[in-house]
Amino acid sequence: MTPLHRIEERLHALTFRQALGLVVGANLFLVALALALPADGEMRGPAVLSILGNFHILALHIPAAVLLVVPLFEFFERHEHATATVRRLSVFSAAGTWTAVFCGILHAHYNGFAGDAVQLHLWGGIAASAFAGLASLALSKEFRVRLAAQAVAIGVMGFAAHIGGELVHEEGFPFKPNKVAAPKQDPADRTVTISQKRDDYTQVVRPILEAHCVSCHGAKKVKGKLRMDSLEALKKGGSDGPAFTAGDLKKSGMFARITLDPKDDDFMPPKEEKPLTKEQTQAIGLWIEGKPIPDDIAKAALEATKAAKK
Ligand code: HEC
Repeated sequence: MTPLHRIEERLHALTFRQALGLVVGANLFLVALALALPADGEMRGPAVLSILGNFHILALHIPAAVLLVVPLFEFFERHEHATATVRRLSVFSAAGTWTAVFCGILHAHYNGFAGDAVQLHLWGGIAASAFAGLASLALSKEFRVRLAAQAVAIGVMGFAAHIGGELVHEEGFPFKPNKVAAPKQDPADRTVTISQKRDDYTQVVRPILEAHCVSCHGAKKVKGKLRMDSLEALKKGGSDGPAFTAGDLKKSGMFARITLDPKDDDFMPPKEEKPLTKEQTQAIGLWIEGKPIPDDIAKAALEATKAAKK
């Protein structure tokens, strides 16, 4: 008898109530862990927990795939009682989901993630783990009940996975083609049109912010509680209030920060990053003042933006 067989026997010997207690307890532990180790955007040590966190990205694919395979085997084997294969796969997918979420909570806390999308992904993941657990509890029930429980678990997992996919790739993933296939998607790649017809925010300012600021002020990381990936987010602002006040450069934190002495601690982007060029800074300033950005400044600013993206 292998150790795995022994574990299986132990699980098999549990009463329904005991098994329910196990699933509820294990997932309440995840809730407690997520509350104790919040996703606050700070990076921290020790290295071993940071690395264990990174394993989230690896670990999550296994239970996601197995969870999908369980109903497939149910259909192949179509028994009133769950077969040994279905049982093993289902329990394995629940344990695997739990493990992936456990690593995910560490990943968010130790590796500097924060923001609404991260929160949604995190709690969605915990829900997926709970539903995968409930689906394996349903193994003692009839065929239809088992299938229904598995379908719900797959649905919740699919939702959490989708948000996770958007975090790693970009919004709209996987339904958005690449830039070459859909050239109009990227404003920075469009030729600059004459000032009157140009929407300075979408065509000039947003691409600059996306290239230089959104890595720390976007869906994944929200430094200073400020997101800069949409106009609404800029207006909403961060811990110091709105990022800009239309028509008033002095009351515009985002302009103040990019025009400080680069040696100043508050200068943005922070020291280790490439500072904005003169034209990029001018373009942002003119836009805040509500003045059209002249074509030559817009062009130079966007060229520097494209160079920074490479
Ligand atoms: C490498 C990460 C990083 C990048 C890139 C970055 N920032 Fe920041 N930003 C921070 C951190 C950390 C804070 C919070 C500490 C502070 O207030 O200085 C912050 C805070 C801010 C704040 C204050 C927010 C508030 O309300 O408290 C503004 C405004 C800001 N950044 C603007 C920018 C702009 C504009 C860019 C792009 C040109 C940029 N940042 C790029 C890390 C970054």
